[in-house]
Amino acid sequence: PVPTGILRINNLFLDRQINRKSIELSLIIPTYNESKNIEQLIQIIINTLDRIVVNQYELIVVDDNSPDFTWKFAAELSHKYSQVKVIRRESEKGLATATIRGWQAAKGQVLGVIDGDLQHPPHILTRLWQEIEKGADIAIASRNLEGGGVSEWSIARRFLSRGAQMLGLLVLPEVMGRISDPMSGYFMVRRDALLGKTFNPLGYKILVEVMARGNIRWIGEVGYIFQERKTGESKVTHQQYLEYLLHLIRLRLHLWQIDRFIRFGVSGFSGVFINLAVLYFLREFADLGLTRSAIIAAEIAIANNFFWNDRWTFKDISSNQKGIHNRLIRFLKFNLICLSGLILNILLLNILYNLLGINEYIANIIAIAIITFWNYWFNLKLSWRT
Ligand code: GDD
Ligand code: MN
Repeated sequence: PVPTGILRINNLFLDRQINRKSIELSLIIPTYNESKNIEQLIQIIINTLDRIVVNQYELIVVDDNSPDFTWKFAAELSHKYSQVKVIRRESEKGLATATIRGWQAAKGQVLGVIDGDLQHPPHILTRLWQEIEKGADIAIASRNLEGGGVSEWSIARRFLSRGAQMLGLLVLPEVMGRISDPMSGYFMVRRDALLGKTFNPLGYKILVEVMARGNIRWIGEVGYIFQERKTGESKVTHQQYLEYLLHLIRLRLHLWQIDRFIRFGVSGFSGVFINLAVLYFLREFADLGLTRSAIIAAEIAIANNFFWNDRWTFKDISSNQKGIHNRLIRFLKFNLICLSGLILNILLLNILYNLLGINEYIANIIAIAIITFWNYWFNLKLSWRT
């Protein structure tokens, strides 16, 4: 049984890849109430793929327990065509998670997805595959390229679609700016580009998730005309727009590594107390001079912060660079960056307090906030390189 709620897939595909004989292409067909389309679609896809994919491919229908029994029709087709497989989900729902669940069960080196309602013309698969063969990490069917478009969309629908794209560009420019049709749900991607990534999609837009979390360098795009639906109906409601917005925000926070920054802040905060405690101890019981005590207290606090950052804040990175030698280098860099932060601190305090006349304590708070960012950024880029 698949878990409900938020989907977390760690180390995607890795284990399965070792045990199974892999094939060239796995194409996922997510369906919900597509019983009238599924047979025709599968026949056309098979005709198309038989001409292009040299070795082997599989078609995986992922159906969310459709009330119109799409899963049953698909199961019948799987008896007729050995390359057709069916996943029937009973608790988990949604187009994006259906696609990932399909990929999880897939054996293909290349993973693809196509709508189950014939709105994505299957003959485009040929050109997508060509892009992959040329070396693309991802091949995307796009409505916004030469030879692409929509058939008979109303002004309102075009406006909504463009609006969603603009919003995406605003929130995730570094992701959405790379592709002409980020809303596309018709593409192929190399398994390698997704290996070891944790996916956490929401709603409809699986491509955005793949582009934001995957390791995508070479992008191939192919124009296509989004066909009109002949039978069945679209499942898009206002809820999908809300989910899209939440999905964008989630990916924004992910790309900014907000959760990591919070861990960094907490680790740093623990250092403040260590610093105070050590200083108190040295002054009261060891009877050391102030400067000497302060230096020792600072170094112990730095060591404490490093410990938590290495074990917790940047755990995913340090676990890939094990060994005492690597750790020592990280500690050294961490020290140097903290030192640069300290120098910046003094500089900032002087500017804020002496030059701008801001209250000492407020000036200190501002300086600490800026230095936290400084330290975080340089440690992220230099000590725990990402
Ligand atoms: N398993 C599963 N679960 N499949 C679903 C679900 C779900 O909750 N919701 C929709 N599907 C299936 C549909 O049965 C169909 O095969 C496909 O996903 C697309 O759903 P539609 O409801 O037909 O979407 P659309 O035509 O409005 O939107 C499509 O248009 C985009 C272009 O703007 C989406 O497929 C996008 O991926 C596509 O690029
Ligand atoms: Mn559709």
